[in-house]
Amino acid sequence: GDQINEKVDYVFKVVVIGDSAVGKSQILSRFTKNEFCFDSKSTIGVEFQTRTVNINSKVVKAQIWDTAGQERYRAVTSAYYRGALGAMLVYDITKRQSFDHVARWVEELRAHADNSIVIVLVGNKADLVDLRTVPAEDAVEFAENQGLLFFETSALNGDNVDAAFFKLLEEIH
Ligand code: GTP
Ligand code: MG
Repeated sequence: GDQINEKVDYVFKVVVIGDSAVGKSQILSRFTKNEFCFDSKSTIGVEFQTRTVNINSKVVKAQIWDTAGQERYRAVTSAYYRGALGAMLVYDITKRQSFDHVARWVEELRAHADNSIVIVLVGNKADLVDLRTVPAEDAVEFAENQGLLFFETSALNGDNVDAAFFKLLEEIH
């Protein structure tokens, strides 16, 4: 659970990436504030939020960085990835294109992030089951081939958001 006023054993930098409008910022606000905003604006530049959690009896402060999916609004790539120990790569289960771009995002990670970075692939908006265009099996196969963790989440109802972050932080630890 959350730890307050306790000594922090580790600070883990995690970056969130993926196409615009897949829900990166809403996943982050669900995880750090348990909030969701229906009319959230596209991110411009870089923002980060933190949440301190217990992982295997250690107090871990997750410092989670969020930037724009749109190229023109993005932060300087090398600075964004510098020191990152984990990455959450998000697509939208209702937008096939956002899944087709996942391979490009993995390439960017391999080019700019540390080799040992732990990556979780996240199919978000799992609440929109009737609009699904990306079968979970396609993502499972891609994740297995690339050595990524995988979860489907909903920032809207909160399903699996904590699970995806906790698994990522555990694998870093
Ligand atoms: P950029 O900052 O432009 O890269 O976009 P983003 O990936 O941060 O997307 P954002 O979090 O701003 O969400 C985009 C839209 O999707 C917003 O209208 C959200 O309300 C909506 N959204 C985000 N997560 C979910 C979800 O889990 N379910 C549903 N139904 N809508 C979601
Ligand atoms: Mg955003």
